[in-house]
Amino acid sequence: MSVAALETRTGVRIVADEHRPAREETPHVAAAAAGASKGSAEPAVERVTHQEVPAICALYKKVWDAEKTGLPVELVKTWQPTPLEFTSWMEGVTYFAARREGRVIGVVGCELRHGSGRLVHLVVDPDYRRQGVATALIAAEIDWAKRAGVPELWADALARFEAAHALFRHVGFTECGVLHRHDWNEDVRLFERLL
Ligand SMILES: CC(C)(COP(=O)(O)OP(=O)(O)OC[C@H]1O[C@@H](n2cnc3c(N)ncnc32)[C@H](O)[C@@H]1OP(=O)(O)O)[C@@H](O)C(=O)NCCC(=O)NCCS
Repeated sequence: MSVAALETRTGVRIVADEHRPAREETPHVAAAAAGASKGSAEPAVERVTHQEVPAICALYKKVWDAEKTGLPVELVKTWQPTPLEFTSWMEGVTYFAARREGRVIGVVGCELRHGSGRLVHLVVDPDYRRQGVATALIAAEIDWAKRAGVPELWADALARFEAAHALFRHVGFTECGVLHRHDWNEDVRLFERLL
């Protein structure tokens, strides 16, 4: 299999082969990871503990209450877990939380299954958007997935969630397909990022 390593005009390193999508060493993700370790303005991102479950459930409630107009009722109900439901989500998924001043402002999960990693249940508090919180969460997830030895991460988002699509592209994911009339009869777009 032929593999090519390219330097683009912007200096971004691309690794590609003829069968797989390009893997970009995304500068935003590297900056988020470096910023977190240097204690800069990046939010603190750490693994979720059981003590944080009530705060995390309150965040999911806040986010999906704000977004629920026009969404299927069952979807909103599913994505606003009770503490008991979230505890059962934690059994198969590793969650990371972003905090500012001790407050949980973002959450993401990583499910490792059949040798690949799936990004799930990503939300950021509406009061803290466009500040790099999701980017920092995904940087932590990528770091963790790499350490776990999986070769790729994938993610899905309803076709109507354009902010999520823009975010996934921003952190180096490539769109790789659409599931039509999928969960709750909604089109779902698929993204992947080679690690
Ligand atoms: C999608 C979401 C997680 C983004 O969180 P965020 O912390 O605001 O994202 P970031 O600040 O890290 O954004 C990084 C980049 O992604 C892109 N992006 C993020 N939100 C965007 C938006 N609303 N519109 C366009 N681009 C956007 C931009 O390129 C942005 O960089 P910039 O701010 O320098 O332009 C947040 O909007 C959210 O929680 N939405 C509701 C829940 C949801 O859709 N979850 C995903 C389900 S799969």
